[in-house]
Amino acid sequence: MRVLGMSASPRDWGNTEILVQQALAGARRVGAETEFLRLAELDLRPCRGCLACVFNDRDCLIEDDYHVVLGAMRRSSAVVLGSPAYVLGATARIKLLQERLLRFATRSREFVDRPGVVVAAAGRPTDVPFTLPQIATTFLSLGMPVVDQFVGYGQGPGEVLWDEAALRRAASAGEALGRGETGFRGDPGTCPSCHFDLIDVGARGEVSCPLCDLPGTWTPDHGFRPRPNAAPRWAEERVRSHFEDGMMPSHDRFREHRAEINARLDALRAAFDQTGATEKES
Ligand SMILES: Cc1cc2nc3c(=O)[nH]c(=O)nc-3n(C[C@H](O)[C@H](O)[C@H](O)COP(=O)(O)O)c2cc1C
Repeated sequence: MRVLGMSASPRDWGNTEILVQQALAGARRVGAETEFLRLAELDLRPCRGCLACVFNDRDCLIEDDYHVVLGAMRRSSAVVLGSPAYVLGATARIKLLQERLLRFATRSREFVDRPGVVVAAAGRPTDVPFTLPQIATTFLSLGMPVVDQFVGYGQGPGEVLWDEAALRRAASAGEALGRGETGFRGDPGTCPSCHFDLIDVGARGEVSCPLCDLPGTWTPDHGFRPRPNAAPRWAEERVRSHFEDGMMPSHDRFREHRAEINARLDALRAAFDQTGATEKES
């Protein structure tokens, strides 16, 4: 087993990194090899939206340190991914990573079945609603089973060392990855697919898990129950259908429309230039 740990915090040896390193120490204790990356130290640029990775089934064209991350992921059999809570969610580095990994969330399912652990560091339990779900989306979208997901609390760098429950949990989750476990061992949550409590209630009372796009019902006795036979968006058949029926046809459709789009854009630009000129003159 080889476990990769990644921290999306800008602080080296901050609270996120302490939790991730604690998990890696747990993995080593049961005989696994480990590797660690600080995403903030890498030159990681945003996705350019060219979709060459998806349409041509090739690695990303941008030449930056994303290829360091990809290489480390390819060498690993399990991943621990951590982020601090920033403005109720994960840091921008988590989103950036997910966007760059789009090919593996749609076309090439290279990371399916490699387990992951989701770790967050935060200041206050009231202020973390989207943090774990946003980090977990990395694994869910890649078809990687989540083994545990939890938050450690501490405001200043290093203060998570006083959150002994989180330190123990990180070590134990790392041991589980090191032993090759893939089953979910975290808090059950309301949704049986993602194990989060993000249930959405529509205007007519329709209930769903918005993260998993899973319709169902909610009762005080049973909580959320998915509709029978409904599959979460992460199910392989839905991923395949999204790619084959949604993404691939959009490629040829865009090529067919390109001349018309360019003509309409030229007209729009000309109208904008005229408006801009009028405003400048007045
Ligand atoms: C820009 C910024 C935004 C933050 N937003 C939140 C927040 O929404 N919720 C929260 O609980 N803590 C928030 N915090 C506190 C951090 O999550 C907390 O200090 C955490 O332990 C930092 O982890 P680190 O040491 O790994 O960077 C924020 C901190 C910063 C710098």
